[in-house]
Amino acid sequence: MRKPIIAGNWKMYKSIREGVDFVNAVKEHVANTDVEVLICAPYTLLASLVEAAKGTHIHIGAQNMHFEDAGAFTGEVSADMLLDIGVTHVIIGHSERRQYFAETDETVNLKTKKALAKGLVPVVCCGESLEERDADATKDVCKKQITKAFEGISSDDAVKVVVAYEPIWAIGTGKTASSEDANEVIAYIRDVLEGLYGDTVSEEIRIQYGGSVKPANVEEIMNQTDIDGALVGGASLEAESFVQLVNF
Ligand code: PGA
Repeated sequence: MRKPIIAGNWKMYKSIREGVDFVNAVKEHVANTDVEVLICAPYTLLASLVEAAKGTHIHIGAQNMHFEDAGAFTGEVSADMLLDIGVTHVIIGHSERRQYFAETDETVNLKTKKALAKGLVPVVCCGESLEERDADATKDVCKKQITKAFEGISSDDAVKVVVAYEPIWAIGTGKTASSEDANEVIAYIRDVLEGLYGDTVSEEIRIQYGGSVKPANVEEIMNQTDIDGALVGGASLEAESFVQLVNF
C-alpha cells in the first residue's frame, strides 16, 4: 500500500512568523497519520518550521539543494545543511527551476542521487509544457525526464523517491489536467519505472499530481488509481485550504 503524500510548495512566499503561525494553525487538523504531510518552504523558514512542527507528523522540506557536498558555490545549500536543521524532504527539478534556473535532467539526476545518499527524500518533478502536450509528446517528455532522473539509482533507493507529475501548463494557471488524464500519464510513468526496476518497485513508488490542485478537486484527483498524492502551490498557502487538502 502506498501512503498518500500531500505536500505544500510555498515557493517564494511567507516570512518566518507567517510560516510558524501557519504550522500552529494547522497542526491539530492534519494529525491523520494515514497521510504523509509535507511543507516545502523557502530556506529562511526551514529551521523555524522544523521547530514549530516538533511533536507533530508534519515533515518540512526544502525546494532545492546543490548536488555537491560543499564547495565554492555561492548562494547554494547542501544536503548536509538541510539535514543539519532537521529537514527530511527536498523538491528536485521543479519546472520553475528548470525554466528559470537552468536545472537540467542531468542536475536533477545528480541532486536526486545526492539526496538519497544523504538520507533526504527527494520529490522529483517531471511534466510537459503546453507546446509538448499539443505536439502529443507528453509521454515521451516524462519518460525522458524520469529515465534520466533515476539513472544510476538502485532499486532500494528508488522506492524512497516521490515523483511529482506536474504538467507545466497547469501550474498556477487554474487549469488542472482532468483527473483521468493525470492518472493516465501517472500510470504511464509507473510503466516507465516498471521498465527500469520491475513491478515490485514500480508498485511501491509514490507518484503525486501537481498543478492547480485545490480543495475543490483534490478528492477526485486522489480517487484515481495511480495518483498517490498532490504537490500544491497556491492552495497550500492558506491554512484552511491546506487542512482541507490533507483531509481529502
Ligand atoms: P499550483 O503549483 O498548485 O499553484 O499550480 C503547483 C506547483 O508548482 O508545485
